[in-house]
Amino acid sequence: MARNPWFETVAEAQRRAKKRLPSSVYGALVAGSERGVTIDDNLAAFSELAFAPHVAGHHVERDLSTSVLGIPISLPVVISPTGVQAVHPEGEVAVARAAATRGTIMGLSSFASKPVEEVTAANPNTLFQMYWTGTREAMIQRMDRARAAGAKGLIATLDWSFSNGRDWGSPSIPEKMNLKTMITFAPNVLPHPKWLWTFAKSGHIPDLTAPNLAPPGGEAPTFFGAYGEWMQTPPPTWDDVEWLRKEWGGPFMLKGVTRVDDALRAVDAGVDAISVSNHGGNNLDSTPATIRMLGPVADAVGEQVEVLLDGGIRRGSDVAKALALGARAVMIGRAYLWGLAANGQAGVENVFDILRGGLDSAVLGLGHSSIHELSPADFYIPPTFTRALGAHHGSRI
Ligand SMILES: Cc1cc2nc3c(=O)[nH]c(=O)nc-3n(C[C@H](O)[C@H](O)[C@H](O)COP(=O)(O)O)c2cc1C
Repeated sequence: MARNPWFETVAEAQRRAKKRLPSSVYGALVAGSERGVTIDDNLAAFSELAFAPHVAGHHVERDLSTSVLGIPISLPVVISPTGVQAVHPEGEVAVARAAATRGTIMGLSSFASKPVEEVTAANPNTLFQMYWTGTREAMIQRMDRARAAGAKGLIATLDWSFSNGRDWGSPSIPEKMNLKTMITFAPNVLPHPKWLWTFAKSGHIPDLTAPNLAPPGGEAPTFFGAYGEWMQTPPPTWDDVEWLRKEWGGPFMLKGVTRVDDALRAVDAGVDAISVSNHGGNNLDSTPATIRMLGPVADAVGEQVEVLLDGGIRRGSDVAKALALGARAVMIGRAYLWGLAANGQAGVENVFDILRGGLDSAVLGLGHSSIHELSPADFYIPPTFTRALGAHHGSRI
């Protein structure tokens, strides 16, 4: 008998993804950088926060809904943009549909495998993500296209510093998928018939191009071609951030903030939201877990901008902890990628249901009737937990 496709935890979705995906694709999602300090701390830090549950006086009705960038959402969990190349033939369209059925927002990476028009058709509440790459003219064209497709907001991800190398080794990823590379990669791919079969049924092989970075009327660049352009683009200044914000015009999130001083500069640059993020531990290794940096950033900006967090969210209690320390909502990355790999759109919906259930349990146990009542008083927070970065200029302690 076929195994029940439903899974009860994100850890189980990851186990199934590992079995199903070719090791190079699985390795590209595990990612991380250098020694893996940050990727590990993103997960471990959540375990250091201890709940202080009540024994009676719980509420029958519990409200988990909120809004992000003016978009009402049914739970405080949003899809973080990832290039989900080669995980599933429906890729970001399946993720967008799952987010829509669960009443929340889709974040679409500019390195994604599906055109923004197909993704906004699947979920009108889509935010389009961009890096600082290419000429200003090209950036304007990409924003025009996303706006015309109906994207409701822009996420500018500016934390990338091109770190490379992992102590556990990097997966080899082909420049482009064609018959020749399929044959080269056959030993890696053939032991994974289910993964191959989902692509065979769809009539496509993963082509590893970035359609949302194509010039108007031109061909989509390969993933590596696009990465090369990005590496050669001079990094942005704060004036550039302000420029990007003005050019977009609509709701704007700056993703990748870790420091208090940067958060305050982002407020000055006119952004509407920030995400406290270390790119899921894929960037500058030894950056602390995002949950350690959240409190000081949220305290510093107050109500001036919306504060989100991403990094290490694997269960509903993680969401509760982030909200209690000042996040309005969280964004998830690998959690939904494992769900997508394990069971397509239904797998991503399954992940949302796990997070909703876990968050609801936390709100119940902590004696609240709404996520908006979560606060640091709901926890024991160890004295050495927090990392306030950029809050004390020049101090060595
Ligand atoms: C495979 C992979 C690809 C990613 N691609 C992007 C991207 O294209 N744009 C972006 O802003 N962030 C990207 N990220 C970072 C995520 O948006 C998010 O910050 C991170 O995954 C959160 O950590 P988590 O995976 O522990 O939830 C990527 C992350 C992973 C794991």
